Amino acid sequence: MADTFTILGIAGSLRAASYNKAALRAAVEVAPQGVRIDTFDIADIPGFNQDKEREPPAKVAELKQRIRAADAVLFVTPEYNYSIPGVLKNAIDWASRPYGDSAWTGKPAAVMGASVGMLGSARAQYHLRQCCVFLDMPAVNQPEVMIANAARRFDANGRLTDETTRALIGQLIAALVRLTHTMRGTRQSAAA
Ligand SMILES: Cc1cc2nc3c(=O)[nH]c(=O)nc-3n(C[C@H](O)[C@H](O)[C@H](O)COP(=O)(O)O)c2cc1C
Repeated sequence: MADTFTILGIAGSLRAASYNKAALRAAVEVAPQGVRIDTFDIADIPGFNQDKEREPPAKVAELKQRIRAADAVLFVTPEYNYSIPGVLKNAIDWASRPYGDSAWTGKPAAVMGASVGMLGSARAQYHLRQCCVFLDMPAVNQPEVMIANAARRFDANGRLTDETTRALIGQLIAALVRLTHTMRGTRQSAAA
């Protein structure tokens, strides 16, 4: 299906019962027709070592290939100590290197996240948006999807049961598709 819009979804938690992994599953479910979200599991990516950036581990090479093959990226981040988890930052760092060969450059992004606290990973999301500035990833501004008090919004099977949040995630994905098309149109007309 050549016309399928593909999004690479990356959750920033390695926890088996992760709310953020569960939120990413919800995104897969609510993606509109013609949009497919493929997920990438960042488990097993070793700690970044700049000595190895020109010959990265196979998992990193795969991540870079998957980013490049996707039309856009969806980050689903927990909040650890008011920021993004080290494992997510580590994956971002690997795929951004070596200098001049970042897989992220120009790739449109959407950011969402869940936390057990009242701010729903807001602080982590703003740190992630800051990374997107240097990575040159245009990010969707609205809607912001901050899933607060996560323990109340997922059932025992890890299904997002909060219908308002499910609808909001659908809107976020639609906005990501719109942003991507807008960017492509802008770049085409700039080149004309
Ligand atoms: C190291 C660590 C730091 C955390 N810091 C925060 C925090 O700053 N803000 C917050 O809302 N929750 C914080 N939490 C709680 C997380 O929101 C909670 O563990 C959540 O379930 C993590 O996401 P996950 O379910 O996708 O693994 C922290 C958890 C850990 C393990």
